[in-house]
Amino acid sequence: MINPLRGMKDLTFDESQRFVHIVTTAIGIAKRYGYSYIETPILEETSLFKRSVGNSSDIVSKEMYQFEDKGGNDVCMRPEGTAGVVRAFVSAKLDRQPVKQKFYYYGPMFRYERPQKGRLREFHQFGCESFGEGSVYEDFTIITMLGQIFDTLGIGFDLQINSLGCTECMPPYKEKLVGFLTEIKEELCEDCNRRIGTNPIRVLDCKNKTCQSLLTTAPKLINDLCDSCDTDFKRLQTLLDKAGISYEVDTNLVRGLDYYNKTAFEFVSNDIGAQSAIAGGGRYDKLVEYLDGRPTPAVGFAVGIERIMELVQMPEPGKSGYYMGAMVPEAIEQVIMLANRKRASEKVTVEYTSKGFKSHMKGVDKANARYALLIGEDELANGTVWVKDLESKEEKTLPLSEIQEI
Ligand code: HAM
Repeated sequence: MINPLRGMKDLTFDESQRFVHIVTTAIGIAKRYGYSYIETPILEETSLFKRSVGNSSDIVSKEMYQFEDKGGNDVCMRPEGTAGVVRAFVSAKLDRQPVKQKFYYYGPMFRYERPQKGRLREFHQFGCESFGEGSVYEDFTIITMLGQIFDTLGIGFDLQINSLGCTECMPPYKEKLVGFLTEIKEELCEDCNRRIGTNPIRVLDCKNKTCQSLLTTAPKLINDLCDSCDTDFKRLQTLLDKAGISYEVDTNLVRGLDYYNKTAFEFVSNDIGAQSAIAGGGRYDKLVEYLDGRPTPAVGFAVGIERIMELVQMPEPGKSGYYMGAMVPEAIEQVIMLANRKRASEKVTVEYTSKGFKSHMKGVDKANARYALLIGEDELANGTVWVKDLESKEEKTLPLSEIQEI
C-alpha cells in the first residue's frame, strides 16, 4: 500500500467538508471587502523566494522543496503565497495602473519542516493581498476582516501586533540590537549566534528559554520608531480600541519572512497546542520594488487552514434535496427519469434497487433529504408519485406531471 509522504495528508469526508466550509466562508467575506480571486503557479523560480521571503530566513535556507527541473532550471514549490502573488502583480504590469488591487487565493504550500501536530510539509493557506494602499486604515481593515472570518467560523483568537519600522528607523535599530546581542553572544544558542550576522531581528523570536530570558532587556524597536511609523502604529492601536478588538503588543513578534515593514500581526489560538499561530501577516511596502515593480505599498495575511480545521464550528446540516426510489422493479426507470429532470435544479439521491417502504425511509434519513418521492405498484399504474415532506411531515400522492411544483 502506498501512503502519502511524511507531513502530507489526504483530506476526506469530515475534514474536506470543513476545508470547503472554511474556504467558502473566507471567500464570501473577502469578496465583501473588494477582493478578487488570483491563481498563481505552485512551482516558481527559486530566486523569487530567495529575493522575497529572504535568503537567511528558515523557510528559504532550510525548508524549501527545491530542485532542478528537466530543463536545468532551479525551481521551488511555493512555501507561501505572497511572493507568487507579487510576482504575478508585477508580471501583469498592474504596478503601472493607478487603481488599487486586492486579491485572495487559497491552495497548497510546501515547507520541509519537521512534521508535528499543526505542522505539515504540505499545508493549505487562504490569503489576501491588498496593493496600492499605504494608509494604516488598510492595515486596520485587513485585521478586522481576518477577525470577521474567524468570528464567522466560530473560532476564538488572540491578536498580537508589532511594528517592524521602515528603511529609516529599522537600520539604526538593527545596529543597536547587534551591539546588545554581541555582548551576550556567549550565552545565546547556536542559531542566535548565526543570526546575529545574518538576520539579527530573528533572534528576538528565538524559542530557546535561556535566550528568551536574556532578551528581556534587549532594545525594543517600538521605542525607536521614526515619527511616521510611530504615528501609524499608535493609530492602529486607537482604531482597534475603538472597534473593540482586543490585542497585545508583542515587541518580539518579527515574523519568519523578511519582507515585512511597519505593521506585523499574528492571530493565535490557545486551543491547538504548540503550533498556535492560525494566521499571520503584515505590511510589505518594498516587496513590489524588490521584485522589479514600481514602488507600491501592500499589506496582506494568510490563514493556515489545517490549523483551524478542528476549531471551526460546522453549521448543522438541515434537511435538503430529494430522495427518490422505486418499490417495484418496473418503476425504476420512471424514478431515474424523474431524478434526471429534477437534478437540473436540485440535489437528488436516487436508489437504483427497488425496495420496501421501510428500507427506503432509512435511505431518506441517511441522505438527510427534505423530500421523499417513491413510486410503487399503484403509483405506476396511475401515473402518480408518493411524496413526503420530511420537515412538515405532510404526505400526498401527486400526478407525475405536477412533480416540478414540489
Ligand atoms: P506565515 O506566518 O509563514 O505567513 O504562514 C501563515 C499561516 O500558515 C501560519 O500562521 C500558520 O497558520 C500556517 N502555516 C505555516 N506553516 C505551516 C505548516 N508547516 N503547517 C501548517 N500550517 C502552517 C505567510 O505565509 C505569509 N505569506 C502571510 C502573508 C500574506 N503576509 C502578507 N501577506
